[in-house]
Amino acid sequence: MLTQEIIRRKRDRETLTAEQISLFVERMSTDEASPAQIAAFGMAAFLNGMETEETVALTLAMRDSGNVLSWDAEELAGPVLDKHSTGGVGDKVSIMLAPMVAAAGGFVPMISGRGLGHTGGTLDKLDSILGYDTAPTVKRFRQIVAQAGCAIIGQTEDLAPADRRFYAVRDVTATVESIPLITASILSKKLAAGLQGLAMDVKTGSGAFMSNLDDSRALARSIVDVANGAGLPTTALITDMNQVLGHSAGNAVEIGEVVDYLTGERRDERLHEVVIALGAEMLVTGGLAADRDIARAALLRTLASGAAAERFERMVSGLGGPTNLLRETSALRSAPITLAALPDETGTVARIDTRKVGLAVVELGGGRRRAEDRIDHSVGLTEIAGLGDEVGPERPLALVHAKSEADAAKAAETLKQAFAVGDAPEPGPVVVETVT
Ligand code: URA
Repeated sequence: MLTQEIIRRKRDRETLTAEQISLFVERMSTDEASPAQIAAFGMAAFLNGMETEETVALTLAMRDSGNVLSWDAEELAGPVLDKHSTGGVGDKVSIMLAPMVAAAGGFVPMISGRGLGHTGGTLDKLDSILGYDTAPTVKRFRQIVAQAGCAIIGQTEDLAPADRRFYAVRDVTATVESIPLITASILSKKLAAGLQGLAMDVKTGSGAFMSNLDDSRALARSIVDVANGAGLPTTALITDMNQVLGHSAGNAVEIGEVVDYLTGERRDERLHEVVIALGAEMLVTGGLAADRDIARAALLRTLASGAAAERFERMVSGLGGPTNLLRETSALRSAPITLAALPDETGTVARIDTRKVGLAVVELGGGRRRAEDRIDHSVGLTEIAGLGDEVGPERPLALVHAKSEADAAKAAETLKQAFAVGDAPEPGPVVVETVT
């Protein structure tokens, strides 16, 4: 069938067969489909939507456009599990959760992305650890997964290349925000990592990619249905992003928070709840725990015993970072200027424009406006106030870590606009819903 015929069918709201979708993806991978044809297909799918079966077919075809990892029982004596977040401000969950699940008997080969816009990326956070290699060979990646139980690295060239080509076109043709296309894009990469179970963290609220709860629900439903349809047992949690997750946002500063979390030095309650809730889904899905309560207890034991911290150190040192990051954080870059961002009035934090807090980090140089931007790993925010916290001259909105006084002052101004002080309703639960 001609490529334009497949596009025409989608344009005319016909349901495409798996063969037609597979043909289109094959042509997209081999450059036989032109950028104009890819854009036209993307817009037709954006406007007319896709059935679950079509989205499953698109996911599987994009997965199969490159290498699909497989793990045998001799190599890994446990289930291969992963989690993925749709992206939030201060979301460092993967970095503590991967070693916790590893210490509880799972194996986590995590392929993560870089940040773009107001949300940070796990890989950028890991890049702030001197020596950590986010692009090892596949052989090294497999070795570290086997030895440490987890490894977090970037997308390799040959992992779902059709998604990379499609995404590059979607990015410049206003077709990113399509639930079936986002679903297929995320899941094709996850399926290519050879997983046996996935927990999705779909964010909702002012700092999320989808701020409206109904949209977040629809995305969670689509991901769970398509993943299960493609043979990957998956559950999704919808979690709150109306405030920063944890008390830091940036790169090195977030690794500092991960270190404090794993050593027990300090644990933010809401962050802890998201980590444990997602981890429990992973352990239950992987058959490592009979129910969520048992799974939660197992995860808490990995923290109390130091086993999760030890797995983290094995992963970091195995990928070229220091052997003692948990005791000596000098391998993290730190910014020269620190400034307390003070509110104009004393009171209780009633509302936070979390997206704006994320943009303050971008303004400092800690995030990207365009994919090709270089970032400064040392800058960011710590001690960020949450909803219901008292702020005033003694309790700033956040501490700004910047490379210059001028940058720090500008970020402090942005933060003042992001926080509203007044009558504060009780913040809602951090895990809003579970979609199974
Ligand atoms: N993240 C992805 O990997 N793909 C999308 O389409 C959107 C977010």
